Amino acid sequence: MPGAKQGGLADVIAGQTGISTVGKEGKGLSYRGYSIYELAQFATFEETAYLLLYGWLPTAQQLNEFHRQLADSRELPPAIASILELLPGSTHPMDVLRTGISALASFEPEEEDRLALDIAVRLLGCTSSMLLYWHHYQHSGKRIDTSGSGGGIAEHFLSLLHQREPDEQHVKALDVSLTLYAEHEFNASTFAARVTASTLSDYYSAITTGIGTLRGPLHGGANEAAMELIERYDNPEEAESGILEALRVKQLIMGFGHRVYSVSDPRSDVIKEWSLTLSEQAGDRKLYDISERIEQVMRREKKLFPNLDFYSASAYHHLGIPTSLFTPVFVLSRLTGWSAHILEQRARNRIIRPSADYIGPEPQGWLPLEQR
Ligand SMILES: CC(C)(COP(=O)(O)OP(=O)(O)OC[C@H]1O[C@@H](n2cnc3c(N)ncnc32)[C@H](O)[C@@H]1OP(=O)(O)O)[C@@H](O)C(=O)NCCC(=O)NCCS
Repeated sequence: MPGAKQGGLADVIAGQTGISTVGKEGKGLSYRGYSIYELAQFATFEETAYLLLYGWLPTAQQLNEFHRQLADSRELPPAIASILELLPGSTHPMDVLRTGISALASFEPEEEDRLALDIAVRLLGCTSSMLLYWHHYQHSGKRIDTSGSGGGIAEHFLSLLHQREPDEQHVKALDVSLTLYAEHEFNASTFAARVTASTLSDYYSAITTGIGTLRGPLHGGANEAAMELIERYDNPEEAESGILEALRVKQLIMGFGHRVYSVSDPRSDVIKEWSLTLSEQAGDRKLYDISERIEQVMRREKKLFPNLDFYSASAYHHLGIPTSLFTPVFVLSRLTGWSAHILEQRARNRIIRPSADYIGPEPQGWLPLEQR
């Protein structure tokens, strides 16, 4: 019987997928056969999203049409805007997304003339709108226009957030990070979404399952926790002694380690470079230098390497994204991977229902209330 250490379904093959490889058997990280390095370098996030949702890279015409559909999906139904206004400013933005997307199911349910793929595109278009409509309303009472200008998802997000045209380099950095976050095989949130889909539940239920699972700091919430860690220190020396002390008392250092990777996370190299570029563009290397020192200490002391979440923290900070919106940005991207997996699960469905080893009490006779 697996104890806590051997549990967590580590090394269990829980099914088949044709969507991504995560570096096992020397295959590297790829989405539908395309290397993550090439996608991060050459593809826009919209091309990556299309690849994940439809299974192939779009032609120019398909991509134009996809952009048009995304732009048409940005506006929120007035009822959703009203619901978002009711959520207090203290709400975690992940709860805002979970609630907003769940509420959309009442107004635009999955049905014969609105299929899961249509809703996936709708959500890709309007998730930034939900999040940032609520964000501005709660912080300044302003009801923003969510339609935004042209451009892709990264540009839409940054222009709604900052209420001005974003810097081109910033748009590119966010676009690459969305590609890196888009898909990662049977990670916890994707697997959870597949479990929900396997009961033949609706698409929105599977997506909100994914959001709830992503929120935890051992999964998507690690990018926010990594930022809180980095910000604690004023310089690399302070960071080194802080991390040594944290390790001494056996604390987890967020943004390090991975269930599947054992030597490095291929996505980390890409985002680390962007973190450096953005730090130099801002003329402020403080967070980058602190992050690099933490990386050195973790490699030296624990042979642990940064995962995608670690350098995403300083990169997002330089894009002016508030820390509490880091994990929601992950949602914006991972909607693509979740959707691809929900469709894949449905295409060859069998309910996911594993078994457990029982470790409870031996059979006992019934005890009447007055004898307990
Ligand atoms: C990702 C993660 C959940 C994987 O968990 P896991 O596969 O169960 O890893 P294990 O618990 O088996 O880790 C093996 C050892 O490394 C240690 N370790 C793993 N990640 C660590 C971290 N981030 N900080 C400090 N120690 C860590 C564990 O404590 C364990 O040590 P032990 O053998 O002395 O008990 C884990 O590495 C973690 O919690 N990382 C921080 C959260 C994070 O960044 N999540 C995002 C993942 S993309």
